[in-house]
Amino acid sequence: MPHIVFDKFNKELVTPLKKEDVSFDFIAKSYNFTEKIRKTEYKICVEKENKKFLLTLKEKDENYLLKADKVTRVTPVQLVKDALNDYANEVEANIIFSNTQDSNQKVRPTQKYLKDIDYFINDFKTDKEIQIEIGFGSGRHLIHQAKENPDVQFIGLEIHTPSIEQVLKQIKIQELDNILVVNYDARLFMEFINSNKVGKIFVHFPVPWDKKPHRRVYSNAFINEALRVLKLEGTLELRTDSRKYFDYCTELLTNLNSGRITIDINKDLPISSKYEDRWKKQGKNIYDVILSCNQEDEDINLDYNFSFDEDIEYDKIIETLSTKAVVKDDYFIHIEDLFTIEEKKNSGLIQITFGSFDRPLSKYILIEEKKARYFQDLPLPTSANMKAHNKLKEMLK
Ligand SMILES: C[S@@+](CC[C@H](N)C(=O)[O-])C[C@H]1O[C@@H](n2cnc3c(N)ncnc32)[C@H](O)[C@@H]1O
Repeated sequence: MPHIVFDKFNKELVTPLKKEDVSFDFIAKSYNFTEKIRKTEYKICVEKENKKFLLTLKEKDENYLLKADKVTRVTPVQLVKDALNDYANEVEANIIFSNTQDSNQKVRPTQKYLKDIDYFINDFKTDKEIQIEIGFGSGRHLIHQAKENPDVQFIGLEIHTPSIEQVLKQIKIQELDNILVVNYDARLFMEFINSNKVGKIFVHFPVPWDKKPHRRVYSNAFINEALRVLKLEGTLELRTDSRKYFDYCTELLTNLNSGRITIDINKDLPISSKYEDRWKKQGKNIYDVILSCNQEDEDINLDYNFSFDEDIEYDKIIETLSTKAVVKDDYFIHIEDLFTIEEKKNSGLIQITFGSFDRPLSKYILIEEKKARYFQDLPLPTSANMKAHNKLKEMLK
């Protein structure tokens, strides 16, 4: 983590300050909540190469520590290092330690087939049928399907990084161009996929989570989202060795108002996964539960409004805001920290974590002279984030 330690500075940085290739927009100072007295900390807003982010400056022992703010971190890391150096130069810091000089930092090549979630929100388009595999693990099944069905666009979801890396290697070696891989929780991913577009969703050997059922992939909400994205006659396909998980899923599925479900025991598939081989050796039964979609749904609207319409009397409400989390059934809001911009009235930063419990989002809200907006970019357009945003608006009234 790039950082600079200095024991004194000889010049005050006055914002806004614009230099050739960097600008410092504002400096916000930590606000002391009554329940949380701590050392003063500053958030310095930098703009470099059209990217805005924050640096953190705080006292550490007898010195000052300058580093990147985690929530707003940008890539490549060299940009952050340069910004740290720019600040230190500007205040004429007397540097004791620095690891920001290495400009030969290797930038990871962009992965053609590894996409982040923003890609699916803003750019993903295909005329092909989509098929999704959830928790692809070693990827044997995903790769087999992609080879057999070159006209289908596959999306592989996985949260285990080594599995992702392994499958990306295979995709490259086997020169497959119809798989996109996403490191994202499958329970939340489908919110971003258009309705009636998906031919098949494979969930093979999901973790049964017997002791933590809330972590299971299958739930009423997941099944409903699956039915929305599936096209007519599209299928949600569970394959499991766990009798408990099989019972749990068949109960959920048989409580649907309508639908067709087929169940197979010990059905052979053309490809067998690592897990499957292990369970078969142990003589365990393998259950397939396939739900066919018999409905067509309206398209989703990802055009959520994340604006703050009303003026925010930040100087007044700052005294009433609390770091105690607001927890609702399907979302939460936690105000982590507050900062004020001393040169301007009713201005500052609110650091929050909010949204769904499974995929909380960390962000800053920037308030400048009563006008608030999310710093850097808007939250992902999910229903949990929208609910949290609406609650937040109420809290900031
Ligand atoms: C038991 S392994 C099965 C892997 C593979 N399907 C197979 O049959 O060999 C379950 C996989 O699901 C992944 N997984 C668990 N929860 C997930 C979630 N919410 N979203 C995406 N992947 C998940 C795990 O990381 C793990 O690789």
